Amino acid sequence: MGDVYLHGHHASVLASHGARTAADSAAYLLPHLRPGLSVLDIGCGPGTITLDLAEAVAPGVVVGLENVEGPLVEARRHAAARGDERTRFELADVAALPHADDTFDVTHAHQVLQHLTDPVGALQEMARVTRPGGVVAVRDVDYASMVWHPASEGMTRWLDTYRRLARLNHAEPDAGRHLLAWAHAAGLADVTPTASLWTYATPEQSAWWGGVWARRVVDSTFAAQALERGLATRADLEAMRAAWLAWAAHPDAWFAMTHGELVARVDAVGTPIG
Ligand SMILES: C[S@@+](CC[C@H](N)C(=O)[O-])C[C@H]1O[C@@H](n2cnc3c(N)ncnc32)[C@H](O)[C@@H]1O
Repeated sequence: MGDVYLHGHHASVLASHGARTAADSAAYLLPHLRPGLSVLDIGCGPGTITLDLAEAVAPGVVVGLENVEGPLVEARRHAAARGDERTRFELADVAALPHADDTFDVTHAHQVLQHLTDPVGALQEMARVTRPGGVVAVRDVDYASMVWHPASEGMTRWLDTYRRLARLNHAEPDAGRHLLAWAHAAGLADVTPTASLWTYATPEQSAWWGGVWARRVVDSTFAAQALERGLATRADLEAMRAAWLAWAAHPDAWFAMTHGELVARVDAVGTPIG
């Protein structure tokens, strides 16, 4: 079966992804970047991370890639707002990249492998288009690692529903812990695995994160699929929304999640980079 992107591209989802930066989402990759390198950013979404990577490698060529047009409209809008006329955005699927072997110095995917039915095949395809000595870099959350306070039945139900839906789509919601195994299965031997957290613990952070998910649980593809698959009723979704809003407004609100991440050097022949 093909990939089912569980979040979908509702405005609430794009607003959430559009707040990301290379500093908060790709810090493990930044030391490997330098001016003039070329970068392919797969599943670039609204492109804010892509455009930060483009700044780090200017005047290098950067391509953001998506398998649906919706987020690319937003990505091109962000590029225009930042005055970036260098970065290109393309429509293609990671399962069959339209690029020749050995094209890019860096091939990157943030929060993408968790949505794929064949993450190992995707890593092999990423390695194919990466030049010898270049790097493949991926980062994915591990949903089972999400912890928060105060405890909340509605949020626990949300997490359980999300993980069950992802598995019904033959995707891996706890991708973070699988990245190293997937890289090895893809034949990548020179791998540096690390992990990092996102935390939401100040009143501003909690209000933002809780507000984003309060919208996403009732409006996004998650909601449509939960209803369609019979995993939740409209009343259940409303209860999840209320739980997120209550958490967001709580003075002690605290949330953390682990991400797996890795940099894999492709066929360490040629001039190493970084
Ligand atoms: C969670 S979003 C991450 C977006 C961006 N990388 C970020 O972190 O803000 C995952 C993105 O991967 C894209 N995607 C999913 N399956 C894909 C595939 N098979 N090929 C290319 N992109 C894909 C989705 O459309 C979505 O925009």
